[in-house]
Amino acid sequence: MSSCTSLIFLFLFSFLTSFKASARNPVFLNQFCPNTTTFSRNSTYSTNLKTLLSSLSSPNASYSTGFQNAIAGQAPDRVTGLFLCRGDQSPEDCHNCVAFSVNHTFNICPNGSEVVLYYDECMLRYSHQNILSTVTLRGRNIQLNGNKISSNQSDRFEDLVSLTMNQAALEAASSSRKFSAIKANWTALHSLYVLLQCTPDINKQECLSCLYESIYGIPFNRIGGKLNRPSCSARYELYPFYNETAVRALLPPSQQAPPPPPTNASTSPVSSTPRPRKSGNSNMLAVSIVVPIIVPVLLFIAGYCFFAKRAKKTSDIAPACDESLQLDYRTIQAATNDFSQSNRIGRGGFGVVYKGTFWDGTEVAVKRLSKTSRQGDTEFKNEVVVVAKLQHRNLVRLLGFSLQGEERVLVYEYVPNKSLDYFLSDPAKQGLLDWRTRRYKIIGGIARGILYLHQDSRLTIIHRDLKASNVLLDADMNPKIADFGMARIFGMDQTQENTSRIVGTYGYMSPEYAMNGQFSMKSDVYSFGVLVLEIISGRKNSSFYATDGTHALVTHAWRLWSNGTALDLVDPVIVDNCQRNEVVRCIHIGLLCVQEDPVDRPTMQTIFMMLTSNTVTIPVPQQPGFFVQSRPERDPLDSDPSTTNKSVATSVDDSSITDLYPR
Ligand SMILES: *[C@@H]1O[C@H](CO)[C@@H](O)[C@H](O)[C@H]1NC(C)=O
Ligand SMILES: *[C@@H]1O[C@H](CO)[C@@H](O)[C@H](O)[C@H]1NC(C)=O
Ligand SMILES: *[C@@H]1O[C@H](CO)[C@@H](O)[C@H](O)[C@H]1NC(C)=O
Ligand SMILES: *[C@@H]1O[C@H](CO)[C@@H](O)[C@H](O)[C@H]1NC(C)=O
Ligand SMILES: *[C@@H]1O[C@H](CO)[C@@H](O)[C@H](O)[C@H]1NC(C)=O
Ligand SMILES: *[C@@H]1O[C@H](CO)[C@@H](O)[C@H](O)[C@H]1NC(C)=O
Ligand SMILES: *[C@@H]1O[C@H](CO)[C@@H](O)[C@H](O)[C@H]1NC(C)=O
Ligand SMILES: *[C@@H]1O[C@H](CO)[C@@H](O)[C@H](O)[C@H]1NC(C)=O
Ligand SMILES: *[C@@H]1O[C@H](CO)[C@@H](O)[C@H](O)[C@H]1NC(C)=O
Repeated sequence: MSSCTSLIFLFLFSFLTSFKASARNPVFLNQFCPNTTTFSRNSTYSTNLKTLLSSLSSPNASYSTGFQNAIAGQAPDRVTGLFLCRGDQSPEDCHNCVAFSVNHTFNICPNGSEVVLYYDECMLRYSHQNILSTVTLRGRNIQLNGNKISSNQSDRFEDLVSLTMNQAALEAASSSRKFSAIKANWTALHSLYVLLQCTPDINKQECLSCLYESIYGIPFNRIGGKLNRPSCSARYELYPFYNETAVRALLPPSQQAPPPPPTNASTSPVSSTPRPRKSGNSNMLAVSIVVPIIVPVLLFIAGYCFFAKRAKKTSDIAPACDESLQLDYRTIQAATNDFSQSNRIGRGGFGVVYKGTFWDGTEVAVKRLSKTSRQGDTEFKNEVVVVAKLQHRNLVRLLGFSLQGEERVLVYEYVPNKSLDYFLSDPAKQGLLDWRTRRYKIIGGIARGILYLHQDSRLTIIHRDLKASNVLLDADMNPKIADFGMARIFGMDQTQENTSRIVGTYGYMSPEYAMNGQFSMKSDVYSFGVLVLEIISGRKNSSFYATDGTHALVTHAWRLWSNGTALDLVDPVIVDNCQRNEVVRCIHIGLLCVQEDPVDRPTMQTIFMMLTSNTVTIPVPQQPGFFVQSRPERDPLDSDPSTTNKSVATSVDDSSITDLYPR
């Protein structure tokens, strides 16, 4: 080894092991070792535990899969245990970590009978209870980097982390090893690295619910953070904390679609091609402008006819009038300054959005689709023509499109105000949204827009990605739903057999859609319910971190509702000045929309009637889907997260943990 390589090697290791003497020691994070359940030294339990631990650390344990469970002895002295190595660890590193932790546990928890030890590289766990195939959330470890993302970038960063984590959660839950690691571009210099993992003894649904609990439990406003639970873990950093080579080898593209297609033994399972990435669930679309301008639609359509003459005549299915929807690509290039960075106003499902100004001064939002669709040109044009016919004041209008080689561009009406998301995430803006004239109106407008998509139009269109950032507000604060056209254009050919194609945003996705890729009008109803709860509470679903013991918004709302304190959900800014009956009725409707079973969710038609008439009786809601049980007792590791930086791994509760750890 050259001296230079060894220097780099040394540096990397001192970095990873935070100044420990031995470079090979795993990085200890924390332990869960309640002193309420202990055993005495010469007991049968003690003997069984030794047997268990030596079995788990024996050379024949399955270090290559990174997971092993074992049971020793008979009840009541039976010990059940397991280890889980981080998915990218080599069998040697896994073995090393497990052997180290087995030794370590006698120092840390000499007589605890229910123990979890967390390391960066592995987890060791044992208990007098049967811990296999059950989800345990209690006993978590959370560590955050002390450095915050600068505030002018934090929204974009939180969106990126949330998007990437949700995607990784779906992948992890669907994979046989219950593991996923994703790298996403952040800036030109830095990438975001996300790693999520469950113990593989739990099923897909359980894994997903544990991961979602963890995603909601970590604030995304730092440059890194991790949350470990006995059944799953989640971590994000702006540096490659896992072995990318190992991950690429482990997660070939074929694993994305369950069931995995049969692989020919002569084909290498290792692939260096990147996994398909969906851009469809981005939640950053904000078609916005500082100066409100009313789009002169008629003038614009006249403009089309002019441009259409220059466009190639292609579609023979659409009537001649629809031809005017096709615009010359060069015209769009000119309007957007050739898609210049300074014209970029956001990123929506399936592509980047630019602001464009046509020769006549008409301002439009131009979406340049990412080149992932394999849809044929004719199909694409027919879809656009159909979608462009949809006209409703609560839908953003699709005005036209352009095709040029692989380039596909959609031109939308320009909506002057920002998205609802912008108002909900900024406390200073929330004051602008009072109940009667704004929020109630917005809820009604969104309901009308979805109802039109579902029923009033000639087609049934399922949006599939309803969320606050896809609700734009016009100059009068009327809501306009965006991105519905793409849902249809890209959506209908996607079936549940390919879960990596699920578009949508977790937090808004119904359980059956997130789990099985099944979507229907009722999945839009679920998303609508989440939106209603967000509008009433004035908080983004994704802002419900575990700081106050509550979790997702839906869970929080249900708890308050079932405690008879539904009004506690209401945004403090409006609570003193709102029509309480209306608000409670809306919470009631919101909870009905997020019922687990789609059959229990009302249709948009019924919702619309419930919203507009006080005489319609509303059924009593049951516990919603994705409801997470509260922990029965306070989690000893649930104290306020202290901060760490990435070179020093200190633990959460220094008073109770650091002293026990031999330095
Ligand atoms: C367990 O720990 C708590 C605080 O860490 C302490 O107050 C209590 O006395 C301990 N109980 C026993 C049995 O050691
Ligand atoms: C457990 O160990 C601690 C110290 O290691 C000791 O103080 C305590 O008495 C032990 N408890 C039992 C029940 O043996
Ligand atoms: C455990 O057993 C050994 C001998 O078998 C004895 O010397 C020791 O005192 C015992 N310890 C306890 C805590 O009972
Ligand atoms: C490894 O082999 C030993 C002896 O053959 C056995 O007792 C132990 O349970 C095995 N461990 C595992 C994890 O299979
Ligand atoms: C575990 O402890 C034993 C004895 O204290 C020691 O010989 C062994 O090297 C340790 N193993 C590891 C992996 O630290
Ligand atoms: C964010 O603010 C910092 C200074 O606080 C500045 O250096 C940086 O360029 C800003 N970034 C963006 C994207 O505006
Ligand atoms: C990330 O950035 C690299 C280099 O700028 C680029 O080649 C790559 O396509 C980007 N990946 C994605 C998913 O945008
Ligand atoms: C990363 O994984 C690859 C393949 O498993 C292995 O060859 C390489 O040594 C690992 N790198 C590090 C730094 O552990
Ligand atoms: C795998 O492919 C080889 C050649 O491409 C073929 O001879 C063999 O039968 C295939 N095996 C299976 C199981 O399909």
